[in-house]
Amino acid sequence: MSAPHLEAAAPTTPGTALGSPATDVAVPGTAPAPAARAHVVGRAEDVPAGEGRAFVAGGVQVAVFRLRDGSLHATQAACPHAGGPLADGQTDPDVLVCPLHLYGFRWSDGTSTGGVGRLTLYPVRETDGLLVVEV
Ligand code: FES
Repeated sequence: MSAPHLEAAAPTTPGTALGSPATDVAVPGTAPAPAARAHVVGRAEDVPAGEGRAFVAGGVQVAVFRLRDGSLHATQAACPHAGGPLADGQTDPDVLVCPLHLYGFRWSDGTSTGGVGRLTLYPVRETDGLLVVEV
């Protein structure tokens, strides 16, 4: 598979909570799901097009990618197969490839193309020049 070149991840940067209140909706008969909170992890220019970077969002290590079309994706930083550094992986619009053993994971739902687990994906956006990840 041919994928765009990605450079090594920048050092992990501690995130800062935005402080926006989380919304919890109780469903009768179920325990409430933990609410995601928005965290500023860096500046928009910290993740150039076609590259990934590792950050910490609310104490969780995440990998943020900006695809060549400008879209942003965020996932857990450690590969579910054997802990590979996903921010150093290569990606195309559909699949992120872990640099350690080259298994692929779909951006659509986090599932592995090789059956080695599933990524946790996080909402990520750019707001006022800042990268915001919901964890
Ligand atoms: S650690 Fe990622 S594919 Fe093995």
